[in-house]
Amino acid sequence: MSIDAISSRRSIRRYENKEIPKDVLDKILEAGRQSPSAANKQPYRFVIVTNAEIKKELPGLVSRFLKNAPVVIVGCANPKALITGKWATIDTAIALENMVIAAWSLGIGSCWIGVFNEQKAKKSLKIPQDWKIVALITLGYPAETPEPRKKKSKTELFSQNQF
Ligand SMILES: Cc1cc2nc3c(=O)[nH]c(=O)nc-3n(C[C@H](O)[C@H](O)[C@H](O)COP(=O)(O)O)c2cc1C
Repeated sequence: MSIDAISSRRSIRRYENKEIPKDVLDKILEAGRQSPSAANKQPYRFVIVTNAEIKKELPGLVSRFLKNAPVVIVGCANPKALITGKWATIDTAIALENMVIAAWSLGIGSCWIGVFNEQKAKKSLKIPQDWKIVALITLGYPAETPEPRKKKSKTELFSQNQF
């Protein structure tokens, strides 16, 4: 995987009507599994949703496109994890982003989804109440090539030795 998979990535919200082959999906999930986590506690679980009826239950208002994605990964964190519970959300986000980058390097588009119906999603996916859904990511072959979004300049983002 090259650094280009990070800089060329775009959020993709339109997908080809084409399944993701199992071996490709497995590679994406493996990138999540190999992620760093605080004290290596891995306080997360990822629900891979492919069922069309369940997909309809998940989105919030600005994320209805998710039902057209062949795969949606629901990132769940256990905030009650011993010792490292306060990192559970961050650990989950790291694993999700690793999957996003791995997916792009394999020609699969994705989009983070922060607007979702947590209670409905928890019920349909049988997620325990004391777990938290951190975010969802969609996966699918891109059916659009969005222009790059404007990013802050290096001077706005980085400074040397002092804030
Ligand atoms: C935590 C998080 C939540 C997001 N939630 C949504 C969402 O609910 N719906 C959506 O269309 N895009 C969502 N996005 C995608 C952002 O809009 C997108 O990353 C941003 O506009 C930059 O575009 P780029 O990813 O193509 O660089 C989310 C991104 C992140 C990181």
